[in-house]
Amino acid sequence: MIELRGVTKTYPGGQTAVNNLSLDIDRGAITVLVGPSGCGKTTTMRMINRMVEPTSGAVLVDGEDIADRKASDLRRSMGYVMQSSGLMPHRTVLDNIATVPRLNGVPRKDARTRASELLEVVGLAPDLGRRYPAQLSGGQQQRVGVARALAADPPILLMDEPFSAVDPVVRQELQEELLRLQRDMAKTIVFVTHDIDEATILGDKVAVLNIGGVLAQYATPEEILRAPASDFVAGFVGRDRGFRHLSFQEGEGVRIHSIQTIEVDRLGDPDAAVTSPWTLAVDAGGRPQGWVPQNRRSAIRSAGDLVPGGSLYRRGDTLRRALDAALSAPSGLGVAVDDEGRVVGSVRAGEILELIEDARVSRGRANYNTAV
Ligand SMILES: Nc1ncnc2c1ncn2[C@@H]1O[C@H](COP(=O)(O)OP(=O)(O)O)[C@@H](O)[C@H]1O
Ligand SMILES: [Mg+2]
Repeated sequence: MIELRGVTKTYPGGQTAVNNLSLDIDRGAITVLVGPSGCGKTTTMRMINRMVEPTSGAVLVDGEDIADRKASDLRRSMGYVMQSSGLMPHRTVLDNIATVPRLNGVPRKDARTRASELLEVVGLAPDLGRRYPAQLSGGQQQRVGVARALAADPPILLMDEPFSAVDPVVRQELQEELLRLQRDMAKTIVFVTHDIDEATILGDKVAVLNIGGVLAQYATPEEILRAPASDFVAGFVGRDRGFRHLSFQEGEGVRIHSIQTIEVDRLGDPDAAVTSPWTLAVDAGGRPQGWVPQNRRSAIRSAGDLVPGGSLYRRGDTLRRALDAALSAPSGLGVAVDDEGRVVGSVRAGEILELIEDARVSRGRANYNTAV
């Protein structure tokens, strides 16, 4: 079991990302942390494997304070899956999966054999093992990310928005696959998402967080849907349930705003302008790579330093996709792209919610309520 005991994290500069959070995370179950972007989900998760040290409070794993354990040992007992698959681009898929077992001293041949088995476990064809990450689809890369996290057979799996950047159909497949895997593995899984649907599908228990890492409710999905503990939870649950059926509603009328971009190659150049609070880094083809927060500009020198982005919005996509893009972006600005995946601008959650509200009203409230 993982216990968070009054954990607080204040980053240099004074912002409290997580405020006095206490949470018991059950062994062998999936616990989901859900909440809007910026509410402290990633910070909370990273305090569990000591990628982030709490300012006060303690984290216990099986009764032992993790502050007393060596961070590297601790991390090896926990698989970590991120939103951007985090795979090493110059290594084959098989070598990527075999990395941690190799670090743990497993001979090369055994590590590769195990890696091929894991490919199958996560539903990938064996011949994909010889490819490089860039030669896989986004969904396939996320599966490789899961396989890599499982390679050392850790008892704990930390998953930070692992499925947020893939399209909804693939996302659903990945969710089903994770539930199927978990039936056999029974790992202790901490799963972060901004999507209440995903939270209620996957979670044995769901922790709803509000901005500042304040715990708004911690209960089973059924309980949260049936009896939200506050207006905030009701709003969060209701809003998403409200737009579930809008999946079919085309996102016409979504305003595309201009957006400041910077080429990834110029990140190391201190003269390259970053004048917005959030600037989007793009590759030479204009495709989105991640975000540069202005207040951390000097620390971001190459693609690996970027803050990962959220899902993308293509013109003609549904309102749901548009809202998802805006809610999943760390900047609060959803990235809009054209058919070739090139950035055309940004979309804003507030405006999309207004369109959703308009659609509700024009459809009639009674009709809307029965649809939910
Ligand atoms: N390394 C950092 N330095 C300063 N502030 C940070 C850092 N990481 C996160 N934050 C801030 O802490 C808050 C919570 O961030 P985060 O835990 O990433 O939220 P979430 O994962 O829910 O989107 C945000 O306001 C974010 O800007
Ligand atoms: Mg996060």
